[in-house]
Amino acid sequence: MDLSDLRREYSRAGLHRDELDADPYKQFEVWFNQAKDAGLIDYSALSLATASADAFPTVRTVLLKLFDHNGFVFFTNYKSTKSLQIEENPRVSMLFHWLPLERQVIINGTASRVTALESMKYFATRPRGSQLGAWVSPQSSVVSSRRLLEGKLRDALKKLAGGEVPMPEHWGGYRIKPESIEFWQGRENRLHDRFRYINPTEGNHWEVERLAP
Ligand SMILES: Cc1cc2nc3c(=O)[nH]c(=O)nc-3n(C[C@H](O)[C@H](O)[C@H](O)COP(=O)(O)O)c2cc1C
Repeated sequence: MDLSDLRREYSRAGLHRDELDADPYKQFEVWFNQAKDAGLIDYSALSLATASADAFPTVRTVLLKLFDHNGFVFFTNYKSTKSLQIEENPRVSMLFHWLPLERQVIINGTASRVTALESMKYFATRPRGSQLGAWVSPQSSVVSSRRLLEGKLRDALKKLAGGEVPMPEHWGGYRIKPESIEFWQGRENRLHDRFRYINPTEGNHWEVERLAP
């Protein structure tokens, strides 16, 4: 299929240096809320890129569950491919694509496990089905059939008989501490606005640079 004619101009808005918050977390919050207010579906979804120690990259979608000045948190299975790669090489890249707003945000940084207490707090808020799913799915492993997974779910349901579902040890969160955060706003003639925050200091001071589109 030839897609060479498939294109559109981006002209909704510009991004000006004097509108940017000095604090990229606050700037992220503004854009995050605008994605929410625009009614974008799954606006908390991001593409998470990880790479193994031998530099083989993989990417997948995860959901952002928390962000503050300590970083950006998602939850997963600690035995999954992404987790094994993070344990080998904690440098990751995150991409939020809010395409109806002609925006993307790219965050590069280092991932580390959140505390078990933080994971437990979040695990407790998950619907029961998702809690059980965390037990029965050996995420990223080859499985012979869906029937096998459904059987394991039925067994777990019987075993727990309505009781509280404990958090599996192999499940929890990662927090990404950013080293750079780029805000991208589409503009006419492909002259998009790109601002990247870099070199964070302990006191949350960042340098801001404009990148060519
Ligand atoms: C919208 C969406 C949200 C997802 N959220 C998560 C998530 O928060 N955590 C997670 O482990 N997997 C999530 N997944 C599944 C992952 O994309 C992926 O299939 C899974 O984590 C296994 O990835 P891995 O084998 O690369 O580790 C989500 C998928 C989609 C499409």
